[in-house]
Amino acid sequence: MQASLKTRSISSDNIGEREFPFRLENFEQIKSRIYQLAGISLGSHKKDLVYNRLVRRIRALDLDSFDEYLAYLGDSKGEVGHFVNALTTNLTSFFREEHHFDFMSQQYIPELEAAGQRKLRIWSSACSVGEEPYSMAISLLESGIELDKWDVKIFATDIDTNVLATAKKGVYGINRVDDLSKMRVRSAFLRGKGVNSDKVMVKKDLRQMIDFKYCNLIKDWTITEPLDIIFCRNVMIYFDKKTQVELLDRMTDLLKPGGILCIGHSESPTRSMKDYKLLGRTMYQKL
Ligand SMILES: C[S@@+](CC[C@H](N)C(=O)[O-])C[C@H]1O[C@@H](n2cnc3c(N)ncnc32)[C@H](O)[C@@H]1O
Repeated sequence: MQASLKTRSISSDNIGEREFPFRLENFEQIKSRIYQLAGISLGSHKKDLVYNRLVRRIRALDLDSFDEYLAYLGDSKGEVGHFVNALTTNLTSFFREEHHFDFMSQQYIPELEAAGQRKLRIWSSACSVGEEPYSMAISLLESGIELDKWDVKIFATDIDTNVLATAKKGVYGINRVDDLSKMRVRSAFLRGKGVNSDKVMVKKDLRQMIDFKYCNLIKDWTITEPLDIIFCRNVMIYFDKKTQVELLDRMTDLLKPGGILCIGHSESPTRSMKDYKLLGRTMYQKL
């Protein structure tokens, strides 16, 4: 039977009038589960968002209520990934907060080259569908350094396996590159043909610079080598203060002295940054 055809009762504590009963207790259970799994801290104003995101799973599984869904989540290991994927927010774009990329290509990387450095390790730590790490790769290309003489690796990680799958393909709707200069689009993307004429694909030499992997920022990391640049942008806003402090401490340990940490425009560090020099506009250089 189609989920939408089922008769549903709305219990007295159902939050608002909804297709599926959604009790405050359900929200509290979801809140504690996602915090434990991903460090995502949900305020009570996120109830509608949580309902709308998870209702799709309830329909897909042909269940009748959030009670049933939470029981299923507890029993089925396979659902945990879907649950996390449903509750992450993946908003991103190419060259979002462009000053970080300008700094990389126009100042930092040329300075490293002038100093004789030929190895570069960069981490896009919440890469979503990949537009952030691809923008990093394009910035390296635009920095004018002789890339064939460098050992470059961009680690791009996220907790959401759906966005990682998209990121690995490197194929985007053509509207995603609307705001990029024609020159940038020409040098970094291939235009699809025929039925794919509304798509672009990131060129192979740029894709080869990037290693896409699953990484949950609140658990163990597989990246252990010292890093030159870390982008930790627009993900800390989903964490509480304790998680943010722990994350910044761990990232600081991974950064080389002189390395750069970029955070999102609406984020401010919750720990003392006395071990960094502020370069301005959410960019920090480790002392
Ligand atoms: C709003 S996007 C930011 C994307 C990109 N950094 C940017 O600024 O455009 C936030 C990303 O953080 C990821 N995320 C949330 N919690 C995470 C966690 N515990 N570990 C790793 N990634 C996480 C989400 O899956 C999502 O793709």
